[in-house]
Amino acid sequence: MSAIKDGTVIDHIAAGKAFTVVKILHLDQTHETVTIASNVPSGVTGKKDIVKIEHRVLSPEEVSSIALISPNATVNIIDDYEVVEKHLVELPDIIERILRCSNPLCITNHEEVRTRFKVETKAPLAIRCHYCERSMKEKDVLRVLG
Ligand code: CTP
Ligand code: ZN
Repeated sequence: MSAIKDGTVIDHIAAGKAFTVVKILHLDQTHETVTIASNVPSGVTGKKDIVKIEHRVLSPEEVSSIALISPNATVNIIDDYEVVEKHLVELPDIIERILRCSNPLCITNHEEVRTRFKVETKAPLAIRCHYCERSMKEKDVLRVLG
């Protein structure tokens, strides 16, 4: 897998989750060069996925959404072939804005209310809507992100 000149490398993604990252970041719609590696040996017994995106810097919301599906990922910003920033993604206790509530009756799906979820457990993921109290698990999150 070759080094990139400028852009973002999302490393240490949970094995098999690179395609979910592609989906969350809508990388199937970009014209930039995207490199994906899945089930790469890492450490002594482990495996990981890696996604490299040239000429792109992720927004804080995008970084949080990666944390939803892969809490141990690192986001490396590359400038002129050097790693100039390295961030461990972090799942906040409260998630605002980036997700839609999966409950069609929830007020956030009908009025201009910004969504708000409390993270109850990180692995396996379980979050709860502040407004309607609907609980969402990873599969529900993936559905509303997609
Ligand atoms: N990388 C890249 N292009 C560059 C520089 C780095 O694609 N020009 C990739 C590396 O291959 C690695 C990630 O960015 O997947 C982070 O690079 P680096 O910090 O140099 O690697 P490590 O020290 O192994 O990172 P960590 O400690 O986070 O495992
Ligand atoms: Zn709701």
